[in-house]
Amino acid sequence: MRIDIITVLPELLQSPFNASILKRAIDADLVEVHFHNLRDYTSDNYKSIDDTQFGGGAGMVMMIEPIDKCITALKEQRDYDEVIFMTPDGVTLNQGIANHLSLKENVIILCGHYKGVDQRVRDQFITREISIGDYVLSGGELGAAVLCDAIIRLIPGVLGNETSALTDSFQDNLLAPPIYTRPRDYKGWKVPELLFSGNFPKIEKWREEQAYQRTKDRRPDLLGD
Ligand code: ADE
Repeated sequence: MRIDIITVLPELLQSPFNASILKRAIDADLVEVHFHNLRDYTSDNYKSIDDTQFGGGAGMVMMIEPIDKCITALKEQRDYDEVIFMTPDGVTLNQGIANHLSLKENVIILCGHYKGVDQRVRDQFITREISIGDYVLSGGELGAAVLCDAIIRLIPGVLGNETSALTDSFQDNLLAPPIYTRPRDYKGWKVPELLFSGNFPKIEKWREEQAYQRTKDRRPDLLGD
């Protein structure tokens, strides 16, 4: 998979890709991530990427020209499955969207800034608009990093144990059950006895019940009943 991220703040985006699972995935050539500084596609001396709003109103608007030039230059190199715009008024990211995008070959992510982008960018280039939650960030960069993390860990071969992504919270619209490790007894706080029983069907059933109960308590909306 190849991800091209268009941003005015590439430096804000580097570090999540230089550590842990994302770095390993890049080093293993399971994913390529490229950053494109929008200012490299400007045509004036000030390297302007935004301007005031037609019709009046507070806040600057990202202009179509540098974005068009950048996306067009990328599309001349290869076909893209998706051109995603990070914006608080997009569809809220969930595991289903992450699963879907993890199967794509080439994806562009455009990070929004200021008041937003000229609507013609959204109309002409964007195939999908994603929000990472109902709050407003200063820009789309942190959202893009969240989206990339959610996608990249799902690419086959990225996680050491292939089954571990399948048992994540949300994969079956259920939250994950409680988990434990050593010591068995810490300050009198004990691990449930059943987990030492060796009765794996019973342990599995317990986990399913716990996952269901946790989902019912915390996120009944996921159960849809
Ligand atoms: N840009 C600003 N706020 C955002 C959000 N909540 N999700 C995605 N991109 C954003």
